[in-house]
Amino acid sequence: MTLTINTAQLSSELETLASFSDAPAPAVTRVIFSETDHLARAYVKDLCANAGLTVREDAVGNTFARWIGTDPTLPAIGTGSHIDAIPNAGRYDGTVGVLGGLEAIRALQRSGVRARRSIELLLFMSEEPTRFGIGCLGSRLLSGTLAVVRAAALKDKEGKSLNEWRASAGFYGALDGVALPREYYAGFVELHIEQGPLLEQHGTPLGIVTAIAAPASLRIWVEGEGGHAGAVLMPERRDALCAAAEITLAVESAAKATGAADTVGTTGVCDVFPGAINSIPVRVRLEIDVRDIDEARRNSVLAHIQTSCDEIATRRRVTVRTEMINADPPAQCDSKIIDALERGAVKHSLASERMVSRAYHDSLFMARVAPVAMLFIPAIKEKCSSLDHHATPLLIAASTADDR
Ligand code: GLV
Ligand code: MN
Repeated sequence: MTLTINTAQLSSELETLASFSDAPAPAVTRVIFSETDHLARAYVKDLCANAGLTVREDAVGNTFARWIGTDPTLPAIGTGSHIDAIPNAGRYDGTVGVLGGLEAIRALQRSGVRARRSIELLLFMSEEPTRFGIGCLGSRLLSGTLAVVRAAALKDKEGKSLNEWRASAGFYGALDGVALPREYYAGFVELHIEQGPLLEQHGTPLGIVTAIAAPASLRIWVEGEGGHAGAVLMPERRDALCAAAEITLAVESAAKATGAADTVGTTGVCDVFPGAINSIPVRVRLEIDVRDIDEARRNSVLAHIQTSCDEIATRRRVTVRTEMINADPPAQCDSKIIDALERGAVKHSLASERMVSRAYHDSLFMARVAPVAMLFIPAIKEKCSSLDHHATPLLIAASTADDR
């Protein structure tokens, strides 16, 4: 079997997909359920249909494009990723796994091979937490990890619910039909850029992921007392932003205090109300991300942050309310698929190294319902937003997706 990757076509499709953006190039902003997201999905669905794949969507907007195998009754082989992009993202996050997966399928088709198992490309809905504050919404529902009542209660910053959004985007079915039946996939492989520096630093073209670190997200509301910035004297103040600033520093020191390089803590959102230069902040919303490959250690950081919040609230006479958005366990990749990826790398004379994914991916949740593995390619720094792709690894994705 000879597999050839049409790199010119793949690059041009990646470029076209990047042009569906609400930010000026080279940045990409594509938030789920926006018009831009809708157009980008339509573009990818067209490409899939042109490749002869059977396309369907579920009630939350996960999109499945299937190349039907000679025995359609067998569990399929899945591959794919996401195309939603956080504000001002790079162009390769997620898209490489979607368009790369599609090109892998097309390469198999061109080779004349006909797989026994169906091979399915999956575009997950909302890998990014931008609209609803929770990442991997689509794969959480597919894997039955997120209770449907909780999903239905999700609202964006403007108070518009998931159900309202999906109705306006044309996704009407019941959310409880989203979870995949047992043994739907025999295996799932996600191709992704590393989003870290290691592969580039080591000059290694391929990373083979052995485990995905455990992410947690916290939302914290701080409520103090507002007032005129000139009229209220310092001893009287209960400034919500000053308390939030201390909480932010407490997140940093809690993550550093474990002494482990794998522990990370970030405060990425800080919304201040009323947000006027001459008004004392009365309310602040923080969103905090804590991760570690060691779940117990990650949980100890969360506990440490909670203790700091209590202490800061008392000392500054503000109220602090914390909401755990998610605290997920890590995932282990499947050893058989890892071995297959390594064999594929050797076959194509590509160096590879085993690594942990510190970013989360939909595979974190797919691992609960199927054997999974991930293939990383370097995120070349000098390219857009430190993200880049190599086209050659797609060859390996193609040959390992073929489980005949
Ligand atoms: C993925 O989007 C992540 O935040 O790791
Ligand atoms: Mn991604």
